[in-house]
Amino acid sequence: MTARILEGKVFAQAFREDAQKKAAALQEKYGVQPGLAVIIVGSNPASQVYVRNKHKSCEALGIYSEVIEMPETTTKDELIAKIDALNADVKIHGILVQLPLPEQIAAHESEILERIRPEKDVDGFHPVNVGRLVTGEPGLVPCTPFGCLRMLELAGIPIDGQRAVVIGRSNIVGKPAALLLTANNATVTLCHSKTRDLKAKCAAADIIVAAIGKAGFVTADMVKEGAVVIDVGINRNAEGKLCGDVDFAAAEQKASFITPVPGGVGLMT
Ligand code: GUN
Repeated sequence: MTARILEGKVFAQAFREDAQKKAAALQEKYGVQPGLAVIIVGSNPASQVYVRNKHKSCEALGIYSEVIEMPETTTKDELIAKIDALNADVKIHGILVQLPLPEQIAAHESEILERIRPEKDVDGFHPVNVGRLVTGEPGLVPCTPFGCLRMLELAGIPIDGQRAVVIGRSNIVGKPAALLLTANNATVTLCHSKTRDLKAKCAAADIIVAAIGKAGFVTADMVKEGAVVIDVGINRNAEGKLCGDVDFAAAEQKASFITPVPGGVGLMT
């Protein structure tokens, strides 16, 4: 079997159109323009690209956007004071602190993220929103796993009753992906670096979500014939080329659907 490629740009376009319509409807019905504030501390090059892209997308979709650039030397108290101001700002409905934070405040990440009002926590990282995801109440959900689930849904891929394996237990992708798949009636195994018999677990899966951050980690023998493979990894291989967590060329021969890297999940989020 040769897999159908799930192209990120196609899904990204659908999500943009949806967001644009929702923003226009808010404006028309309530006279409210949705507003997003993104705080970036320091000058991590990848973060700068992500933040610039979010700003451009907001502008294109009719969403008010503020980018707050703070110096590398910003203290925890300075960052918290900025979050407090945005919590109180009526133009701002969503607040996002771009991660990773610089070393001197990274240890305070939880305290910083918990300072964002849960209803403005567009990343879904606040414990209130994490709790809502666990209990199945409506709340804000991390964008990457949410987008992966929407991708499966839009591609018409069944989740209900399927065996899903998530590789990687990060708070940003792995754990919320496992919870969202569970909420959609998949039977989920959340695997990580200490999992025994990882190959066998993957080889039995109908859906694999790879988010471990290791180039080529998922090999062909871990992919069942006809499985769906979602690759969230963004790595550089030995030649410095961008690649995912999945050995794409080999897995493509067995999967029914697969996301490429680059051009898959990254483009969509
Ligand atoms: N850095 C990489 N991914 C993310 C994300 O989804 N949210 C935030 N805030 N920072 C990130």
